[in-house]
Amino acid sequence: MRMYDIIENKRNGKELTEEEIRFFVNGYTEGSIPDYQASAFCMAVYFKGMTEKETVILTDAMAKSGDTVDLSMFGNLSADKHSTGGVGDKTSLIVAPIVASLGGKVTKMSGRGLGHTGGTVDKLESIPGYKTTLTSDEFISQIEKVGMAVIGQSGNLTPADKKLYALRDVTATVDSIPLITSSIMSKKIAAGSHNIVLDVKCGSGAFMKTPEDAEILAKEMVKIGKECGRNMAALITDMDRPLGSAVGNSLEVIEAVKILKGELDNDLKEVCVALATQMISLIYSVCENEAKEKVLDSLNSGKAFLKMKEWISAQGGNVDYIENTDIFPKTKYTFDVLANDTGYISYMDTEKIGITSVILGAGRASKEDEIDLAAGLEIFKKTGDRVEKGERISTFYTNREDSIPDAEKIYNSAVIISKNRPENRPLIFKKVK
Ligand code: URA
Repeated sequence: MRMYDIIENKRNGKELTEEEIRFFVNGYTEGSIPDYQASAFCMAVYFKGMTEKETVILTDAMAKSGDTVDLSMFGNLSADKHSTGGVGDKTSLIVAPIVASLGGKVTKMSGRGLGHTGGTVDKLESIPGYKTTLTSDEFISQIEKVGMAVIGQSGNLTPADKKLYALRDVTATVDSIPLITSSIMSKKIAAGSHNIVLDVKCGSGAFMKTPEDAEILAKEMVKIGKECGRNMAALITDMDRPLGSAVGNSLEVIEAVKILKGELDNDLKEVCVALATQMISLIYSVCENEAKEKVLDSLNSGKAFLKMKEWISAQGGNVDYIENTDIFPKTKYTFDVLANDTGYISYMDTEKIGITSVILGAGRASKEDEIDLAAGLEIFKKTGDRVEKGERISTFYTNREDSIPDAEKIYNSAVIISKNRPENRPLIFKKVK
C-alpha cells in the first residue's frame, strides 16, 4: 500500500477503506509516513470530508495508537466530560465532585491552557501540593476510593493525535469536522469512560463561532462516540461571554469553591448543573428531572463540596486552601477597569478577554512559557448589564505592572457599550443525544 494512492483517493473524493486509514494512522505515528504526506492527507480531508464510516475508523485507529485506559472494573459508572475550550470555563472543577458525590466514577485527563483558553491542569496546580501526574495504579485506586481523579494527559495516550494536531495547527487544517471529531473522540475513547458528556462551546471565545457549527460538531462527536460503544450526550453552551466572573488559575479555583459552598449562583452554576445532570442521567439511566434533583441535592447539602476536599487531599493538595481561599497568594498589583460610557454592554469579544488574562500573566503565549497562577481578572459586568460611565467593570490581578496598559486597551476594545439593551442570548442552546 502506498501513501501516495491514499492521498490521491481522498483528493478525488473516494471513501477510504479501513486498511487505508489504519495504514495512514499507524505509519504516521511510527514515523514511516512523513509530515508532508500527512499534511496533504489532512488538506484532502479538509476539502473532501469523510463519511461517518471513515471517521469512526479514523477515531478508532487514533485511539489505539498508544496506551488505552481500562475502566471496565467500574462497569457503567465511569464518566468523563470534555469541553471544547473557553474563557473562565472551570466547569470540570465543579461537575466532577458533584458526579463523584453521587456515586459516579469520574476519570478525567485534562489539558493545559494554550492561546486564549485556560486548562484544568494549570488551574489545579495553583493548589499547593496538588499532583497532576499519577501512576496508572494510583489513578485507578484513587477512583476506587474517592470516586474521582483529575490528572494531566498521560505520556503515551493517542500519540497519533499529538503528532497530527501539531501538524494541523501549522497547515491550516484544524477546523475540519472529521479531523476535530477524531482528535477529541480518540482521546476520550482511549481514556476509557463508558459515559461521556461533551460541552461544545460556541461564540467569540470558542472554536466554533456559531450555534449551527457547534451543533454539526456535537452531532458528529455524539454519533462517533456511540459507534464506539459509549453512552454519549452533548450540550451546546454559550462562549460569547466568559463563563462566571473569574479568569485566571487560582481565581477560577476560588470561584469553583464558592459555587460548591453555595455562596454563588450564576451562569457558571447553571452550566455545571446542566452538565452534571447529563452525566448522572447517563450513568444511572434516569430521566433528566430525577438526575437534576440529585445534582441540586448534592450541591445544596454540601456533599459535592466535601467530595472536592476529599479529592484534592487524595491528590496531595493542601485542603486549607479550599477551606479558606483567602490564603491563596495575591498578586502585587491590582487595577480597576472603569466603563468608558453609560449604557448596556452589548457584546464581549471573549477571545480578547482571554488574551487580556494571558497578557496579565495567567496564560502562555507559547508552550514553554511559565504562567503566573495568581494572575487574571474578575469581571463584574457582562453582556446585557447596564453600566454607568466610570463604574468598575473588571479588576486585573498581575505581578507585571508594565502589562496593565496593554491589558486595559485590549479589554476596553473587547467590551462594547451601546445605548440599547442587547437581545438575551441563551446560555444553553441545545442538547444533542
Ligand atoms: N481540541 C482537540 O483536542 N482537537 C481538535 O482538533 C480541536 C480541539
